[in-house]
Amino acid sequence: ASTLAAAAQQSGRYFGTAVAANKLGDSTYVGILNREFDMVTAENEMKMDATEPNQNQFTFSNGDRIVNHARNQGKRVRGHALAWHSQQPGWMQNLSGTSLRNAMLNHVTQVATYYKGKIYAWDVVNEAFADGTSGARRDSNLQRTGNDWIEAAFRAARAADPGAKLCYNDYNTDNWSHAKTQAVYRMVQDFKSRGVPIDCVGFQAHFNSGNPVPSNYHTTLQNFANLGVDVQVTELDIEGSGSSQAQQFQGVTQACLAVSRCTGITVWGIRDSDSWRASGTPLLFDSYGNKKAAYTAVLNALNSA
Ligand code: G3I
Repeated sequence: ASTLAAAAQQSGRYFGTAVAANKLGDSTYVGILNREFDMVTAENEMKMDATEPNQNQFTFSNGDRIVNHARNQGKRVRGHALAWHSQQPGWMQNLSGTSLRNAMLNHVTQVATYYKGKIYAWDVVNEAFADGTSGARRDSNLQRTGNDWIEAAFRAARAADPGAKLCYNDYNTDNWSHAKTQAVYRMVQDFKSRGVPIDCVGFQAHFNSGNPVPSNYHTTLQNFANLGVDVQVTELDIEGSGSSQAQQFQGVTQACLAVSRCTGITVWGIRDSDSWRASGTPLLFDSYGNKKAAYTAVLNALNSA
């Protein structure tokens, strides 16, 4: 196959990208989007600050631009993200206790209900664990409402859109030996054992020289899948260039392909110039929209599956 999406589809997987609504007028950008990808994640437009700027006043216009573009092109949508400590609207940052818990649950319910039937998978909770060696939850206003806030969010999401897969999504959970990875694993294991509705785990996969693709990446994905959840690579980007970067993209792709429950890969932007990283060249297309060596490595890996 000659595109990322068609190549991924050969093994029943998808290949997605993050999309920014304000770039949907850029013909180079949209041309690559329409040609290469079959899953779309809104980079910012479906987050809490974007969708509920004032309490109980919801705005879906920019999210809708992305969802409608995707669906009109026959692409699926990953919802990102219902509950997160970051990118909260100002009013929510100032809440605590029961009023914050209820506001969070209302947000989950309202947004998941609005998009009901249009979402393949939701990142229900994003980045709830601390970095470093503690294996603890991240301190946040949401965490301070009680340790059960994550499962409460998952139950609310399931009630609102029973057809969407419900995922936990985080970064620095790629290396099996890291405390953060182990902590997320134990949470998913606990949720599965108690019947908390969770269907998938997203691995953001933001890599750079200080945080390279781990050699045990396949082990991590397989061990999570063995808990009875799907896994996905959700925000892939890898700093670097040339063949070294291409090899790392190939390794991530092969790790997913080797796990039957790894259902797809999403890169966090299209061209290097679209990346959230202020500098660097972490994506599959250069700033002119040309395919990089990393693109060819991913395509070839998908085609050899
Ligand atoms: O839209 C406003 C604009 O009006 C304003 O003038 C400008 C001034 O700062 O800010 C613009 O908003 C920015 C927004 O991106 C859109 O470009 C925010 O400041 C900026 O903080 C925001 O960054 C986003 C970041 O999440 C915020 O946490 C990045 O685009 C986005 O790629 C990034 O994505 C996250 C995932 O959601 C979760 N995982 C990590 C990943 C990378 O950080």
